[in-house]
Amino acid sequence: ASHVNLTEFSEPGIFNYSTLLLNEDKDVLYVGAREAIFELSMKNVSVKKNKVIWKVPDTHITMCIQKGKSKETDCLNYIRVLQVFDDNTLYVCGTHAFQPVCDYLSLKEFKLEEKQEDGRGKCSFDPEQSFTAVMVDGELYSGTAYNFLGSEPIISRYSPSQSLLRTEYSTSWLNEPSFVYADVIRESKNSADGEDDKIYYFFTEVSVEYEFFGKLLIPRIARVCKGDLGGQRTLQKKWTTFLKAKLVCSMPELNFVFNVVHDVFILKNEDWKETVIYAVFTSQWGNVGLSAVCAYNISSVEEVFSKGKYMQKATVEQSHTKWVRYNGIIPSPRPGACINNNNRIQNINSSLHMPDKTLQFIKDHPLLEDPVLPVGNGPRLITKDVNYTQIAVERVQALDDNVYDVIFTGTGVLHKSVIYGSEVHIIEEIQLLRYSEPIKTLLLSSQGRFLYVASDTGVVQSPIAFCEKYATCEECILARDPYCAWHLDAEACVSIIQDPVAARWSLVQSLDGDAEKCPRGKERLPKLCF
Ligand SMILES: *[C@@H]1O[C@H](CO)[C@@H](O)[C@H](O)[C@H]1NC(C)=O
Ligand SMILES: *[C@@H]1O[C@H](CO)[C@@H](O)[C@H](O)[C@H]1NC(C)=O
Ligand SMILES: *[C@@H]1O[C@H](CO)[C@@H](O)[C@H](O)[C@H]1NC(C)=O
Repeated sequence: ASHVNLTEFSEPGIFNYSTLLLNEDKDVLYVGAREAIFELSMKNVSVKKNKVIWKVPDTHITMCIQKGKSKETDCLNYIRVLQVFDDNTLYVCGTHAFQPVCDYLSLKEFKLEEKQEDGRGKCSFDPEQSFTAVMVDGELYSGTAYNFLGSEPIISRYSPSQSLLRTEYSTSWLNEPSFVYADVIRESKNSADGEDDKIYYFFTEVSVEYEFFGKLLIPRIARVCKGDLGGQRTLQKKWTTFLKAKLVCSMPELNFVFNVVHDVFILKNEDWKETVIYAVFTSQWGNVGLSAVCAYNISSVEEVFSKGKYMQKATVEQSHTKWVRYNGIIPSPRPGACINNNNRIQNINSSLHMPDKTLQFIKDHPLLEDPVLPVGNGPRLITKDVNYTQIAVERVQALDDNVYDVIFTGTGVLHKSVIYGSEVHIIEEIQLLRYSEPIKTLLLSSQGRFLYVASDTGVVQSPIAFCEKYATCEECILARDPYCAWHLDAEACVSIIQDPVAARWSLVQSLDGDAEKCPRGKERLPKLCF
């Protein structure tokens, strides 16, 4: 990769920069690292505005060591939750020497408020263990482990005013999951039938429904309803709306399945029905060295959750169980559905009023048989010899007024790809990290100016396009980068994002790579051989 202009941040002695949070109104990037939280300038991450240190008291460290954990690596405080609580406060949680703790960070003084809360079910004990969390309207939704051993998986909601709402501890609900991502989709907005907002979770878990020698991994999408309060008798303080389905990413024609999901990006839209979910996968059989990106319409997801068939556990022979389609009568209201106007008419105003029959059914049947299929029935992008672990996507309006989805995927290096109709082109490979270490977190600013990458050793900020590296009009056009165009007067390749006011008639862009549109005459031909 060519020389590029990157901005970096790191502090001596501080490692594991793993959690990023942007506040674009305040122009800042918050960074959670090991025993430290930073506030950096969003426009230039090398400018540190604030810092707070959060260490573990010696008594906790001693206990952690006594339980057989390492003083140098495990018995420290890895900040894993960094979420907006309100305008002046962040909610932060750390692993706190295998005894997770949460606190409030006042942004005015940039100090912890010392209102420590139990972090169990909100943050992982183990800094190495998979974990996801998202704050929605002051409530924290997490996917993590509930115990020291890391053996009890949980999807939970913590709210300051209610008790923890959680998944049932049962392999039919969660079976050795690796949590990847969680976010809300505001489906209540402009909803004629009074639908609720949904929180979607993405993870890979061990299959219960397929017969296989050893552990077969299955990528999942699960969801819960924001208004869920648990049941009155059945499913007390448990989700009454937890449903999950298989997320398919495969090449049916080659009989090849990508069955491990690593990261998800939800491309949101003003109209939630236009939401597209992008996910990056590899195969459990890693030796093939392929990564894939699949895209899912939210409408396909909705269809599966609202109409899909349930699966059920059946006992065959004596002790052997098998999952088969449930063909019996499904109780009403539909198990796992959110409360909507239809229910309200029947005086079911919350999950506490759901009939026991519906609750008992969802408790035993959280898995749907119908899978969520990708757009086009296959991957949007397949790459050889790389294991992608991160994805971010931006929808860009090019000068031809069409919109293009630009996909950023990363491991150690970052790839930038664009979907042109049914084709995908990798248009750039950027080496963002100095050492060949993995990217832990990838974040795009919504104004589309910068990419932020966090790793064990620091934070890197990069422009999303490097148009200026293309020296001629032909090179600029052949790059097929929707962010770049050739400026006729300046005789330079410029970013249309950074310079949105440049008069369109002075810009040349042709995303099909047709360099005929470049001015003829004195221009040099590109230094490329065909
Ligand atoms: C923390 O960073 C160190 C140094 O790069 C690395 O060796 C270690 O694996 C990291 N730990 C976690 C939990 O990410
Ligand atoms: C991808 O991961 C697999 C399994 O973990 C490993 O065998 C393979 O070498 C990796 N490939 C690359 C290009 O890193
Ligand atoms: C997904 O949405 C796009 C755009 O709205 C549409 O063209 C496409 O047919 C949809 N695909 C599926 C599988 O629903």
